[in-house]
Amino acid sequence: MTATVNTDPGLASRLINGVLSVKPLAALAKHQARQMMMKRAEKIGVAWQKEVEELRSHDWESMLAQVQNPHVTYPDYYLHSFHAYDEGNLGWEPALEVEVAAYTVHSTLWGNASADGDAKLRKSYHDILKTQIPNQPQEILDIACSVGMSTFALQDIYPQAKMTGLDLSPYFLAVAKYKSQQRNAQIRWVHAAAESTNLPTASFDLVSIFLLCHELPQEATRQIFREVRRLLRPNGHIGIMDMNPKSEVYAKMPPYIMTLLKSTEPWFDEYFTLDIEQALVEAGFERPTITRNSPRHRTIVAKVS
Ligand SMILES: C[S@@+](CC[C@H](N)C(=O)[O-])C[C@H]1O[C@@H](n2cnc3c(N)ncnc32)[C@H](O)[C@@H]1O
Repeated sequence: MTATVNTDPGLASRLINGVLSVKPLAALAKHQARQMMMKRAEKIGVAWQKEVEELRSHDWESMLAQVQNPHVTYPDYYLHSFHAYDEGNLGWEPALEVEVAAYTVHSTLWGNASADGDAKLRKSYHDILKTQIPNQPQEILDIACSVGMSTFALQDIYPQAKMTGLDLSPYFLAVAKYKSQQRNAQIRWVHAAAESTNLPTASFDLVSIFLLCHELPQEATRQIFREVRRLLRPNGHIGIMDMNPKSEVYAKMPPYIMTLLKSTEPWFDEYFTLDIEQALVEAGFERPTITRNSPRHRTIVAKVS
């Protein structure tokens, strides 16, 4: 699928942005968005409170000390409120809730709400990777690995590959490390910004970026693509899975729901107006394929040029 890029956020979008620029209204929208999600979790049988309580009982500070890189500096765009958490991605509450939140957010992707929407979404991405990438990758980097859900899922489909998960939140990485110990999975966890990973040049066959780009301003996305190009070996591939700006679902979304969504995603407009194909080509990739993989998502695959 190819798409023309609309760089104008549009009138409805500007009105919503106006509402969200008023702090108490933005706070109300975030509160509403969170309440809506927790209610939906209960409906689909995700035991949000119980799962989070269980995780809370662990000694997270010692896990944090094992993954945290004290030399990391956080870009300004990252120090925003995300997903209705004032601390954004830098805290225990988001880290302990992110997995149940993912099951809930993805539960309605294919119509009737169901807790397996998240697994279906990942499978739809992997099916495209397996079709479009001819060789089995030997070394894989999962950028924006969060608490490891995308990393474990990739390891399941490429069990022979050496896996690295990289994220900017040491809290999320602490949970990822705990979960990998539970699964007895050999994964290297790296605390770094994707723009400057400090990982060796030409050291991966596949770099996967699952649900990161919508959390970035355009310049950060461009920098990350250049860094990924540096990290890939000749014939290596980048795989990207994220919201699809061409999806009818967003075009038809009621303004109230769009306001709630935008209140939790500060870089939404930047992502929706980015010409991602062009950004990849400029970073040194062949023209990518873009394939719809859910009613709201697209998968982008590109080979190094
Ligand atoms: C929606 S989550 C990714 C979800 C994850 N891949 C999964 O499948 O569950 C976005 C992640 O991107 C990370 N992130 C945002 N900006 C980043 C950057 N510049 N470098 C590395 N990680 C970043 C956040 O900390 C967060 O964990």
